[in-house]
Amino acid sequence: MSKILVTGGCGYIGSHTVVDLIDNGFEVISVDNLSNSSESVLDGIEAITGKRVKNYNIDLCWEEATHQVFEEHPDIEGVIHFAALKLVGESVQQPIRYFRNNLNSLLNLLDCMARYEVPNLIFSSSCSVYGNTTDLPVTEDTPLQEAESPYARTKQMGEQIIRDFARVHPRHKSILLRYFNPAGAHESGLIGESPTNLASNLVPVITETAIGKRKEMTVFGDDYDTRDGSCIRDYIHVMDLANAHTRALQYLLEEKNSDNLEVFNLGIGEGVTVLEAINAFMMVTAQPLSYRIGERRPGDVVAIYADNSRAAEQLGWEPMRDIRDIMRTAWEWEKRRSK
Ligand code: NAD
Ligand code: WQD
Repeated sequence: MSKILVTGGCGYIGSHTVVDLIDNGFEVISVDNLSNSSESVLDGIEAITGKRVKNYNIDLCWEEATHQVFEEHPDIEGVIHFAALKLVGESVQQPIRYFRNNLNSLLNLLDCMARYEVPNLIFSSSCSVYGNTTDLPVTEDTPLQEAESPYARTKQMGEQIIRDFARVHPRHKSILLRYFNPAGAHESGLIGESPTNLASNLVPVITETAIGKRKEMTVFGDDYDTRDGSCIRDYIHVMDLANAHTRALQYLLEEKNSDNLEVFNLGIGEGVTVLEAINAFMMVTAQPLSYRIGERRPGDVVAIYADNSRAAEQLGWEPMRDIRDIMRTAWEWEKRRSK
């Protein structure tokens, strides 16, 4: 059984990936300083998988403590690095905090991986590295534009740091996974996304409105040049996303990679408009939703969706769920967490 270190294992995507890893026979340890999560998620993971995952409540920016985890576990075969701060708006207000957290943690981790000879890394990147691109669908070779926020810049810089690291460590293998818009929750309703404050992403905004945490929600613009005037995104179910990590890891462990650094887009490959997403929610949950059309949100791109054929061909990955599955599972989770 391969032992995998998951950083950010108590967070949203990390916790779902831990479940998928365990389901596929991996042993998992987590490092998460709980800055945006709670260890109660480990109860949900245990209820689903029957396995209790150990979390080290450590800040990865703390070099010594990070090294200690690797000392204690000389048999780690791979690292999946989720831990990061991720709020685009907050990063504009607190750029130094974002650079410090997202880059120092990565630097310490790479240092440990070199020193303790851990050969496999999967890095959480984001479609935000493409900036305001108009080439659709976005392939991995679509040129990266200027980042739209300090957050997105930490992802561009993180990718670059790993690229430079890979050049001098040819036996080290890395995969950069660029997620489009992750959403939804585990089918059990036992784990899901738990924004510490009110959410800003579309799907949790919808469920928070339907449950009554907000009086109404706003659709940011209906005068874009799209089929119904609202923006288009590629919403990917978090369990499909989780499974892509397992497959990426297996791909590295089985040495199927053709280069020691590879990049994959993770989206369903189709765009959904904001109004379509809202309608899907109302249809699958039979819940009313109070929304109004508002101004465009500054910084929003009109449309972005992935070409995911590289992940399909090379990793054998295929997203199984669509926007309705996202809404159904997100709603089940919202009802449970609001109790
Ligand atoms: P999340 O905030 O739910 O999870 C991140 C976890 O990392 C949290 O539990 C937090 O406590 C932990 N963490 C943060 N900094 C840490 C540090 N210095 N040391 C130890 N732990 C630390 O976020 P998420 O949505 O699960 O995102 C996971 C990754 O995916 C992030 O790197 C994020 O940038 C990336 N990503 C997320 C999205 C999205 O929409 N959710 C989209 C694209 C990329
Ligand atoms: C989706 C659509 C909004 C809220 C962000 C990050 C990106 C990545 C994924 C991390 C847009 C509309 C939203 C609302 C709305 N994260 N919307 N009313 O902006 O595509 O991407 O998350 O890497 O980097 O930027 O996601 O969920 O905020 O918005 O109309 O109350 O929903 O305008 O068209 P976004 P989102």
